Amino acid sequence: MREILIKGQLNKFQSFSDFADEFQLGERDLLFTNQFLYDEFMEEKGKQCQIVFQEKFGAGEPSEEMITEIFRNIKEDSYDRVIAVGGGAIMDIGKLLSLKRTGTVHELFFKEAEVIREKQMIAIPTTCGTGSEVTNISVAIVKDANGDTTKLGLVSDLLIPQEVCLIPELLITLPYKPFASSAIDALIHAVESYLSPARATMTSELYGVKAMELILEGFRRIGEEGPKARLDYLEEFLTASCYAGIAFLQAGCATVHAMSFPLGGTYGVPHGESNYALFGKVLEKYDAIKPEGKIAELKKTIARILGGTEEDALKNLAALEERILHLKPLREYGFKESDIEVFADSVIEHQQRLVTNSYVPLTKELIKEIYRECYE
Ligand SMILES: NC(=O)c1ccc[n+]([C@@H]2O[C@H](COP(=O)([O-])OP(=O)(O)OC[C@H]3O[C@@H](n4cnc5c(N)ncnc54)[C@H](O)[C@@H]3O)[C@@H](O)[C@H]2O)c1
Ligand SMILES: [Fe+2]
Repeated sequence: MREILIKGQLNKFQSFSDFADEFQLGERDLLFTNQFLYDEFMEEKGKQCQIVFQEKFGAGEPSEEMITEIFRNIKEDSYDRVIAVGGGAIMDIGKLLSLKRTGTVHELFFKEAEVIREKQMIAIPTTCGTGSEVTNISVAIVKDANGDTTKLGLVSDLLIPQEVCLIPELLITLPYKPFASSAIDALIHAVESYLSPARATMTSELYGVKAMELILEGFRRIGEEGPKARLDYLEEFLTASCYAGIAFLQAGCATVHAMSFPLGGTYGVPHGESNYALFGKVLEKYDAIKPEGKIAELKKTIARILGGTEEDALKNLAALEERILHLKPLREYGFKESDIEVFADSVIEHQQRLVTNSYVPLTKELIKEIYRECYE
């Protein structure tokens, strides 16, 4: 059993400036970020680096084309360290920039090019969701052999950043909606890894439960006091998303992520939101099909944190989440009835690394049933 605690070095700083002093930034550092983050937090201490803004290459989550353009514009021999400051999208691209360019982006994602790490990677998250700062995955929107668009994860331990720096103040500018969807994503990481049937470890359980405690306490405060309550709790949300990343690095994500990837790839639904659209229904199905075992433990844990009975735990969780972010049916994201069949095929064909972690065997029929029930 793989019991890696944390592969990289985990650091916490009060400010970007403290980080810059400690890491002695210089001209061989590639600072990959967003302009608005740079202007707000990094202008003074980041200016000696080579600075590249992601938005110059298009909006939204990383795609094959976007990463190809980024590779074309940033010379491989022009930097020794990558400092990725941003949400999951920026950190995932940063991970790719730390690799030797052994093939095209398409070849990398379809496992036709070797993964070799060449540069040091420093990950600084500015959302509280993906946990990408500690994980061995980089996710991108790609086109498969049929020309269909989906999201694929490139998985390799060589992608785990060597240095992780948590700087809670960087989240102050994060608007409520991306904050909420990223926090729900982190909660889903914690839950999917907790329920992972074969790969859950002592470490994943410990970190997963702690992440759930922190996130649900934060949600409870927001539910009672409103969105501003998050601002006094940003450090906890950032810590929790990192813990959830450590949990799923070991135990893996599962059904929710597998089924959300075609949705994100085709309709550009933000990652956390597309997961959220499926999460409640997936848990309901798990509970209906296999109520004994780990889901009973999960319900106990949720009831302990939120109050209420174990029986009502999933319902209470859904009600609390609804106060954080309104749950929309898939059709409101552009999902069509005909997608049910096509997306189910795509999940089976491309997402086996996630499908195998499902709490109950994930058949095509079950996938279709969940999509259908989330559709209306
Ligand atoms: N590698 C992994 O382990 C892993 C895990 C889950 C998801 N992902 C990937 O991560 C991406 C999603 O990441 P995300 O949820 O962090 O969203 P994101 O990186 O797409 O960011 C969401 C939005 O918030 C903005 N933003 C980020 N930080 C901000 C800040 N501090 N202030 C103001 N605005 C800010 C971004 O510019 C963007 O518009 C997806 O591409 C997903 O596939 C990766
Ligand atoms: Fe996720």
